[in-house]
Amino acid sequence: MTAPERYGESVLSPEWHGERERLVAMAEVADATTIRILQDLGLGPDWDCLEVGAGAGTIAAWLAGQVPDGSVLATDIDTRWLRAIGVPALHVTEHDIVLDPLPESAFDLVHARFVLEHLPERDAVLAKLCRSLRPGGLLVIESIASFPIASGGTPAFRDAMHAIESTLAATIGTDARWPRTFPAPLLAHGLTGVSASVHVPATGGRNASARCWSHTLAQLRPRILEHMPRARPAVDEALRLLDRPEFFELAFATAVCWGRKPTSP
Ligand SMILES: C[S@@+](CC[C@H](N)C(=O)[O-])C[C@H]1O[C@@H](n2cnc3c(N)ncnc32)[C@H](O)[C@@H]1O
Repeated sequence: MTAPERYGESVLSPEWHGERERLVAMAEVADATTIRILQDLGLGPDWDCLEVGAGAGTIAAWLAGQVPDGSVLATDIDTRWLRAIGVPALHVTEHDIVLDPLPESAFDLVHARFVLEHLPERDAVLAKLCRSLRPGGLLVIESIASFPIASGGTPAFRDAMHAIESTLAATIGTDARWPRTFPAPLLAHGLTGVSASVHVPATGGRNASARCWSHTLAQLRPRILEHMPRARPAVDEALRLLDRPEFFELAFATAVCWGRKPTSP
């Protein structure tokens, strides 16, 4: 499977002036749920962990505090924000999860949030992540899922969110419907103890979710208008709505799935 371009080349580029604020707002929305799920699943103090596509690094830094006798490897195609973190157990490396090799049977935990849905090669990446787990190791995947958008009662906002979905699909090959199938992809890769959950934050009141989607719309606006010129009024109205304290809607959900590598083949 291919796409005309890759994540970060132009679409969702780290060079965009607001990209760090976008990632920080994203982390503010998602970190509490991620941390609760990882705590419920249970982490060992000596675990070796891999955080794939670590972005601003909030979860990698938190993980490093949970494994005082282990390690955390945070990877990304662009590590500019990760390099500044400076936590002892945290190792940062520039790494493309599609193109670069990954050590096999090396990690007790592999976590990737908001990464695989953007990669057309997601199934091969999933296989690679499974191979990188030690027997008994835990894989946790989180992705944006578009299914709540259709239920929205604000047409301009609904259309703008669909324009994001459609533009990401047409440019970098994002599939925001794939996460609706969770946890089937983990079952297909032979993991055990598999399950899933879905979280839908309210987007509005200028909260972190509103700021995150406002940044995402602003960054994607030129590409949306190229791809779907008729979406201009909806995009501009959604940007205005997201700045209003009384506006609330549902945007994308976060779908999470997890499972363990069998201890015997
Ligand atoms: C939407 S951001 C999510 C950041 C972070 N995981 C979070 O949830 O806060 C996606 C991240 O994946 C990274 N990424 C995209 N393609 C990648 C690839 N092929 N290999 C590794 N990282 C990638 C991006 O650079 C970006 O930091």
